[in-house]
Amino acid sequence: MTALRLESDIPRLKSLIAAERARGKPIGFVPTMGGLHQGHCSLIEASRADGCFTVASVFVNPAQFGPNEDFDVYPRDPDGDFAKCEAAGADLVWYPDTLDLYPVAAQTVVTPGPLSKMLCGRSRPKFFGGICTVVLKFFHLVAPDRAYFGEKDFQQLTIIRRMVADFLMDVEVLGCPTMREPDGLAMSSRNARLADKDRDLALTLARTLNTAREAYAAGERDGILLADQLKRAWPERLDLDYLEFREPHHLALSERLQDDTRLFLGAWLDGVRLIDNAPLTGEM
Ligand code: PAF
Repeated sequence: MTALRLESDIPRLKSLIAAERARGKPIGFVPTMGGLHQGHCSLIEASRADGCFTVASVFVNPAQFGPNEDFDVYPRDPDGDFAKCEAAGADLVWYPDTLDLYPVAAQTVVTPGPLSKMLCGRSRPKFFGGICTVVLKFFHLVAPDRAYFGEKDFQQLTIIRRMVADFLMDVEVLGCPTMREPDGLAMSSRNARLADKDRDLALTLARTLNTAREAYAAGERDGILLADQLKRAWPERLDLDYLEFREPHHLALSERLQDDTRLFLGAWLDGVRLIDNAPLTGEM
């Protein structure tokens, strides 16, 4: 199984996709920022299993990084990423050019609503606007029937679903389960930047999710009380951004816990951003 590698070249991207669509193939799309891991590969595999002509993009999107964030040090490995996309079954791996996506004269951006102001949006005010803007451009260029996103970025997934509904777009947005390392750490491109000595501390997020799930299984239903307890047990060296129980559709805060309530966690560890989330019951 060989994949085609395409650098920028939007006209060729469109014509390749149009030819597959004309042959009756649905188009599946997996946008990534590179630094690929098994989480990304599982999205490509899901698209392929759905019978799609599968397009993956690799683009570290400057618009979703704030001035003091990790754009410059974000893991970049275009050749390794291509090999992983190809092995997972991508048909086309597209490396957009920054100036194609953001021409110098560009002025128009997407401004997402209240969903983008909570959780990660509180400390990263540009983040979801930058994501929505680039994803809208991607959806416009690739015109996928289906687009695949990981549930590790559950807030991103929810906001993109909202955008697709708000703009009446004809794309089905699919959420796929978070992939974890054997020790439970949620897979993330940024894990490559974690120092070995910090690895155990990084596991606090997965451990906290497990503790919350155990408490719920034991009968705890008070979201405020449980959040307080979990925050009190949080290690000082791990800079907590948020620890919140929210319902999964509109991300409203959950005072009363239910089976589908999710715990959302965000933190920084020596400058490395860590996020995780899981429902209180079912698969993590
Ligand atoms: O989840 C990501 O990797 C990015 O936010 C995305 C969706 C590729 C947009 O840049």
